Amino acid sequence: MDNVSLYLSSCFLLLLFYTTPARADLPGTWELLVPDAGIASMHTAVTRFNTAVLLDRTNIGPSRKLLPKGHCLKRDCYAHSVQLDLATNELRPLKILTDTWCSSGQFLPDGTLLQTGGDLDGFRKIRKLAPCNRTSFCDWEELNDVELSQGRWYATNQILPDGSVIIVGGRGSNTVEFFPPRKNGAVSFPFLSQTEDTQMDNLYPYVHLLPNGHLFVFANTNSVMYDFTRHLIVKEYPKLEGGPRNYPSAGSSVMLALQGDYSAAEIVVCGGAQYGAFLMRSTDTPAHGSCGRILATSENPKWEMEDMPFGRIMGDMVMLPNGDVLVINGAMSGTQGFELASNPCLNPVLYRPDQPVGLRFMVLNPGSVPRLYHSTANLLPDGRVLLAGSNPHVLYRFDAEFPTELRVEAFSPDYLSADRANVRVVIEEVPETVRFGGSFDVVVSVGLPVVGIVEVNLASAPFATHSFSQGQRLVKLPVTSAVPDGDGRYRIGCRAPPGGRVAPPGYYMAFAVNQGVPSVARWIHVS
Ligand SMILES: *[C@@H]1O[C@H](CO)[C@@H](O)[C@H](O)[C@H]1NC(C)=O
Repeated sequence: MDNVSLYLSSCFLLLLFYTTPARADLPGTWELLVPDAGIASMHTAVTRFNTAVLLDRTNIGPSRKLLPKGHCLKRDCYAHSVQLDLATNELRPLKILTDTWCSSGQFLPDGTLLQTGGDLDGFRKIRKLAPCNRTSFCDWEELNDVELSQGRWYATNQILPDGSVIIVGGRGSNTVEFFPPRKNGAVSFPFLSQTEDTQMDNLYPYVHLLPNGHLFVFANTNSVMYDFTRHLIVKEYPKLEGGPRNYPSAGSSVMLALQGDYSAAEIVVCGGAQYGAFLMRSTDTPAHGSCGRILATSENPKWEMEDMPFGRIMGDMVMLPNGDVLVINGAMSGTQGFELASNPCLNPVLYRPDQPVGLRFMVLNPGSVPRLYHSTANLLPDGRVLLAGSNPHVLYRFDAEFPTELRVEAFSPDYLSADRANVRVVIEEVPETVRFGGSFDVVVSVGLPVVGIVEVNLASAPFATHSFSQGQRLVKLPVTSAVPDGDGRYRIGCRAPPGGRVAPPGYYMAFAVNQGVPSVARWIHVS
């Protein structure tokens, strides 16, 4: 070989070296928001004041954050809930009185966080937190004049079209009940007994409010359309193959974005443990990687199956503002429960529902913090995803292979990358409140001229726990083309959701989405 060709071939080799994707080249970026939140968040919710409420359980022993002087609890003087200010990353301890272990929650129409049940002294408790701005000192309030009809441990809450909340299931409670409480108390829901197996597998059922006003309820491998007014099963869906999907075999589930005339709703259920892993206390049984997707509102619904790039248990599915779904957190082996998983799945994957089967999943940049049992993921108003918790131990334990995790991180999907900043719009004007069916305008500004439609999408703020975000939904509004309004501004005509079946009353993050890139959201009240 002469010198020139030697030179050329080594250039070629160098080029090869530099174009082989390294880990850092996969889409998405990670950042550490809080090195020590003081508590491991088992339940997380984002409020309309751009704070996050982190909530653990009260019987877990000392956390890493003390309550203010003179504010001790029955068991100790440690915080088991904190408020994280997303603008400053400052933490403020909150005082939760009774045990919230494996409880459930939902935002009410006025923006108050309703929180129900738990273990021990919290089994039948109802609590509220009216969130506040950073100069105020809101805190948990326990309702003393009312309690749940039945204990609710591992139940799922869903806000309903009229703004009340249904509480579905729980350990030893195969019933539903409502908040505010209704006269008949707990009502038997036999579907939950039918789906209970020898290792349960019917807990934390996946509940989605369909736009036809019924609930889609999924437990174990089965699902039904449930008329919660008459307490009737309207439709039974085919069994989803691929093993149990609910606690303790958690996969996760979302309802895809509601759009168009809102007559259709598709549900996706992904991942889960193999049956028996929990019974046998197996930490290394490979997780399932299958997803089922079903058009829940069709005459003859069928599960369409697809495989994720990884098997995953305890993944969280997060509805992103553009309608894509982020699957993040969890493990590739084991099951839910204390000390029962291994092989953390550090790569999030993006599920793009509009792509053809086979092209829907994209592997994203891996994180470095294993988030296994008792971890959470929540969409933030700036389009990032907040990650908290992981505590596979009965108490706090920092010397283990998968320690109690007090770090809070944010994952930024690729839509926030710098090279897409020039299509990221800024919402300049949006109403603070909109009425069902009403028309309103959103004004945005943007660097590059707008081509085509800028979507206006409403994202609920769900209550995330145990790999499922209770009350999560994304509603895409009918919009007009963006009309230039001078100075790089554009005016978009929008129609509010037609009613509470499509979007139950409450506060939503309104995102303007341009070419898949979301703006920072503004909170709007829909009623
Ligand atoms: C915060 O909330 C309190 C109580 O509602 C209110 O008096 C105060 O003006 C608010 N502060 C800011 C900065 O919005």
